[in-house]
Amino acid sequence: MLLEGNNKIIDESRQGEVLQPANHPVSATKKLYLESYGCSMNFSDSEIVASIMAGIGFGITKTTDDADVIFLNTCAIRDNAEQRIWARLRDFKTAKRKKPGLIVGVLGCMAERLKSDLLEKQKLVDLVVGPDSYRDLPNLVAAAEGGQKAVNVLLSREETYAEISPVRLGSNGISSFISITRGCDNMCSFCVVPFTRGRERSRDPQTIVEEARQLFESGYREVILLGQNVDSYLWCGGGPKKDLPEEIVHKAMNKLLPETEQEKFCTFADLLEQVAAVHPDLRVRFSTSNPRDMTDAVLHVMAKHDNICKSVHLPVQSGNSDLLEKMNRGYTREEYMHRIRRIREIMPDCGISTDIISGFCGETESAHQDTISLMQWAGYDFAYMFKYSERPGTLAARKYADDIPEEIKTRRLAEIISAQTLISHESNRQNVGKICRVLAEAVSKRSSEHLSGRNSQNKVVIFPKGNFKPGDYADVLIHSCTAATLLGNPVESSN
Ligand code: 5AD
Ligand code: SF4
Repeated sequence: MLLEGNNKIIDESRQGEVLQPANHPVSATKKLYLESYGCSMNFSDSEIVASIMAGIGFGITKTTDDADVIFLNTCAIRDNAEQRIWARLRDFKTAKRKKPGLIVGVLGCMAERLKSDLLEKQKLVDLVVGPDSYRDLPNLVAAAEGGQKAVNVLLSREETYAEISPVRLGSNGISSFISITRGCDNMCSFCVVPFTRGRERSRDPQTIVEEARQLFESGYREVILLGQNVDSYLWCGGGPKKDLPEEIVHKAMNKLLPETEQEKFCTFADLLEQVAAVHPDLRVRFSTSNPRDMTDAVLHVMAKHDNICKSVHLPVQSGNSDLLEKMNRGYTREEYMHRIRRIREIMPDCGISTDIISGFCGETESAHQDTISLMQWAGYDFAYMFKYSERPGTLAARKYADDIPEEIKTRRLAEIISAQTLISHESNRQNVGKICRVLAEAVSKRSSEHLSGRNSQNKVVIFPKGNFKPGDYADVLIHSCTAATLLGNPVESSN
């Protein structure tokens, strides 16, 4: 299956990627080798880390051989993500033996969970830094260079790295992530994120708009606003919004406060408008939407602006209301279906994608069938599909038995994947014979004569490059498709 494009939630082809800077910083005296795992949020954090390390004279290297410091920016979402990191750390043990003084550090989501294992039991690393402590890296690296074990896994209620200018890594120069919130307060019972990334907090909208403007000015044509739950974004001067009375938060998010009060808040719908106003040629995407928090206001803003992409990533997790309750998702099957109906009413051409967990605690065969029937009803353009993996410390790990045998999880996941492949193929077939506007992102990995880009609905489109180059918009007539890709020919130049 051909998969191109770079804005997947957890992109298998990017795990462990060694990223190179697009905007090379200061002349480096020391070298940092940085491998990134997990979601887009983590890849975005790596850009903050590269920026902070540039401030103390570190440039990025692609090989471990000439590295003074090796960082793994890790993910803890499923057990297999963590196993991959342990294997990688064992590889570096040999490198450390060969090069005494080499510092190996673990950053990101495994840091908090496994700090003592990492530093003491396994003695594989010198430095452990959690996602909210990157500003402390200069001190921690100095301590590690002095032979001490350096740890900071404190989670913060305020940190958003708002004014740090990220060093763009692994970028195609066309599309870039911008983090708008950190942490998560949802407490889905299966999820480790609230523990690894802490309380939800929103970033100052001015710094977000400024970052989008700078990206546009340096040639970028797409920004992807990132947060665990973007709809929950609310700026009211910093800190977790849940420090405010619940009623005020609810009213502010739904724009029900008196005007003079409402003006003090910036909701996600407001933020989207401000970013869309940076330039009509700057596309705006966002991820991830949460079915319980998404408002019609956001949908109306999307519909109003041509440069806000008509694409919503709306994880459902399960199609069965009992399981959704056990997952603490805050919506039923019917409420989720209502959200999808609203999206389709307000934007009939909107692309919709989802995340699904197969084999969650107590999932019956009929609950599994409910998930498949919901997928078919929703007609998702694509889906990220996972087997449930119990995470220590989560609500589900404490309350429910992980009781679906591995072979049943595997079989159900395979059924879900094959159902989605048919659904995606059908969804793509609907584009054949139609023209869509594509932002060209890169030369196709398969052919140097073709460009790869995405349409507004986030579908990957491959077309002959002709006179187009990455960064151009092309109107492409789709002539054929696979389950993963649309293929077409440009009909006219739009730049
Ligand atoms: N097991 C399997 N999948 C999980 N996800 C989150 N936690 C788990 C877990 N414990 C999936 C969800 C989420 C996506 C980012 O990862 O589908 O939306
Ligand atoms: Fe991202 Fe969650 Fe993995 Fe952390 S644990 S890297 S937040 S997916």
